[in-house]
Amino acid sequence: MISFRDTFKFDKASVAFLSSDQIKAKACGLEGQGVCDAARGVIESGQFEGKKGQVFPLVVDKKVLVLFGLGAEKDLTASALRALVRRAFMLPYFKTEKTLIVVPHADKAWVVQSIIEGVTIGTYAWKKYISKKADDKTIDRKDVVIVAKKSPGYEAISTVADNVNVARELVNENADVTTPVMLEGVVRKIVKGKKGITLEVLDRAKLKARKLGLLLAVNQGSNKEPRVVIVKYTGAGKDKPYTAIVGKGLTFDSGGLNLKPSGHMETMRCDMSGAATVIGTLKTALELKLKKNIIFAFGAVENAIDANAYKPGDVFTGHAGKSVEIGNTDAEGRLVLADVLSYVITTYKPAKVIDLATLTGACVVALGNDYAALLSTDNTMAEALLSSAEATDDRLWRLPLYPELKDAMKSKIADIKNTSNLKGAAGTLTGAEFLRFFVGDVPWAHLDIAGVAFVDGDSRQYYAHGATGYGVRLLTHYLSND
Ligand code: BES
Ligand code: MN
Ligand code: ZN
Repeated sequence: MISFRDTFKFDKASVAFLSSDQIKAKACGLEGQGVCDAARGVIESGQFEGKKGQVFPLVVDKKVLVLFGLGAEKDLTASALRALVRRAFMLPYFKTEKTLIVVPHADKAWVVQSIIEGVTIGTYAWKKYISKKADDKTIDRKDVVIVAKKSPGYEAISTVADNVNVARELVNENADVTTPVMLEGVVRKIVKGKKGITLEVLDRAKLKARKLGLLLAVNQGSNKEPRVVIVKYTGAGKDKPYTAIVGKGLTFDSGGLNLKPSGHMETMRCDMSGAATVIGTLKTALELKLKKNIIFAFGAVENAIDANAYKPGDVFTGHAGKSVEIGNTDAEGRLVLADVLSYVITTYKPAKVIDLATLTGACVVALGNDYAALLSTDNTMAEALLSSAEATDDRLWRLPLYPELKDAMKSKIADIKNTSNLKGAAGTLTGAEFLRFFVGDVPWAHLDIAGVAFVDGDSRQYYAHGATGYGVRLLTHYLSND
């Protein structure tokens, strides 16, 4: 729980974020209750200069006050502040049930927003299966009080940040727990009793009847039941256009018969991150009662191997009636998305479509782990998404789509192949080109989130190891402003 308090009142543990500019001006930012005197003593002794990341713990009246340096204010961005908040909370001083936060410029919305996100997103870590909690340095965030004037917008920011973590929980859980059927259950719970909702769930029989043959091919080697889940949310008038958001939901991607090697398979629980983001955004849209018509959809299957697994070289036909040669069973996400996109577009006729997918390793090579790739057939959508990316710190970088790419996906025995003839060049572009074949003329944006969805190893920016919940903030901002 995050709450607000207009003035500083010292209780339990506090952290005061101070910039080097404040220290130079000899302002301690902690007026009230004599605490400022103690802080000023340290500041005047020259021991605390407010340098970026500098820590100075004080004990005043048996209560802990940590001075935490922000560096120069001109260098202080929203992302830097989130990361510094995470760093402060990794310190072992805040194991009490209440922590008070003081920041300079708490009258500015972006400062308070960064604190809320830094606390909620920055202190999250997946700890379910750790039995020995004592070594754990991250805090269990309990009550956090921010010294700032409360504003109604802050509650929404908090809601979005909480739902970033909801998406992360789904990704971080074992792949044998987060199954397609489990994801269906999560959605059912979220939409239960809510107004303006219609839910469509396609199980194996319905997927067969509706000819989603590509998605079913991917699931052939799995013992899990496949699902396509679609929520139609009417938050604006029924006559208003719908925006569809579609997620890749590979609950595990072993690669299939083109099996992934060791070192590439261990994080493949993250391959349903697109679906998790759709679910996190759905929950947010309902909680914030977004005045917008949205189709939330994902296809959830598992790319596993057994005697029934789909085979390289075979040809399958999907919902669009187009045949696909399987060049590689590890290029499975595009098969699942092709069917879900085709089904959603023909059945629900959205005016715009956005898909999110951990689609290509090539995207990680091209853009690394801090930027997702955006590929779009519509400049207006692309511009709007880029500006939402800027506003939310769910970063995006646009890559091109162009007519000549079509030749790269040619097959000699089918309408298209799921791998390209470019010997691995431009893998993110050819993956998107494959999807474009099934999207048709509807304005469309594809987000390749392979590099940003998961942190493997050390923390990155303000994210702990594991899922990042990328896209919940981006899509909520885009849908709220579009
Ligand atoms: N899920 C992977 C992509 C991926 C890689 C996601 C790394 C997250 C981190 C996807 O299904 C895949 O295996 N893509 C192949 C495509 C290739 C066979 C054309 C790839 O990128 O190697
Ligand atoms: Mn794959
Ligand atoms: Zn995959």
